[in-house]
Amino acid sequence: MEQKIRRIGILTSGGDAPGMNAAVRAAVRTCLMNKIIPVGIRRGYQGLIHADVMEMNARSVNGIIHRGGTILYTARSEDFMTEAGQHRAAQTCRYLGLDAVICIGGDGTFRGALALSKQGVKVMGIPATIDNDIGCTHYTIGFDTAANTAVDAIDKLADTMQSHERVSVVEVMGRHAGHLAVYVGVAVGATSIIIPEFPYSFEHDVIEKIREGRMHDKHHHLIIVAEGVGKCDEICHRISEETGLEARVSIIGYIQRGGAPTARDRVMASRMGHYAVEQLLAGNTNQVVCYRDSHILLTPIEEALEMKKNLDAYMYRVAGDIAL
Ligand code: F6P
Repeated sequence: MEQKIRRIGILTSGGDAPGMNAAVRAAVRTCLMNKIIPVGIRRGYQGLIHADVMEMNARSVNGIIHRGGTILYTARSEDFMTEAGQHRAAQTCRYLGLDAVICIGGDGTFRGALALSKQGVKVMGIPATIDNDIGCTHYTIGFDTAANTAVDAIDKLADTMQSHERVSVVEVMGRHAGHLAVYVGVAVGATSIIIPEFPYSFEHDVIEKIREGRMHDKHHHLIIVAEGVGKCDEICHRISEETGLEARVSIIGYIQRGGAPTARDRVMASRMGHYAVEQLLAGNTNQVVCYRDSHILLTPIEEALEMKKNLDAYMYRVAGDIAL
């Protein structure tokens, strides 16, 4: 007979993302509404190994829907990478009476959740990463806030670069993926966007575009470079050499991961957190909550980890076509 769910553990793991708190809040409140005890696990899988937990109530998640970061803290646990660590984490779940664990994070978090499920613990994943690089879902919590933060920073940069008629080479986060860079690039009207997914010709995609812009009286050029490509200093140096223009590098960095989540992230996180608990109670386990074609649904975690997310080639083409 299916074991009844009475206590649900909730953790955030990997790089934090704005909206994680809203997801925790939704999961906690949905648990309480269903007379389930929510247990917050601090510092992700590391905290699970060491039983670093706290029982939560409606007040523990008061006033956090608008806060960036994660009240549960997060970590990338080396210990949990080992079979022994995974075994200990599962033992903690049994000892604490956790009937399921909701794991909020990116693909590393889901690999951890899969490992935990193989130790006999029921899990449910919620996608939260600013990179939006999870194959099974069109959206990951945090992406919208990070994109808006980057756009805001680049708009400010553009003011000063424009006054000095410079070229800005701006690095945007995203680990190995260019989703954030392309989205931000379209939003700021980038001259060129360099991402790891597509090959680029420095001469054609950067230099030619800058020259063309100059011919059309453009005085400032934004070159967006995805973190996965890197080499901003080299790109900057070559631009100066080949165009004679002054160029400057700006790496936006970790501020992209902070700040109050946008309404989109709060709402998506609230829906996903709520759905995760409801689905566990309905008997669905070892799944990832996904958002596809305007619907929230589930994908088995093993399948989710196999799925690759393609870059939106149309959006990339749009960026190129309207860059002049
Ligand atoms: O996955 C989110 C992310 O911010 C990536 O964009 C970035 O590459 C990475 O995390 C940085 O990780 P860390 O916090 O370990 O430096």
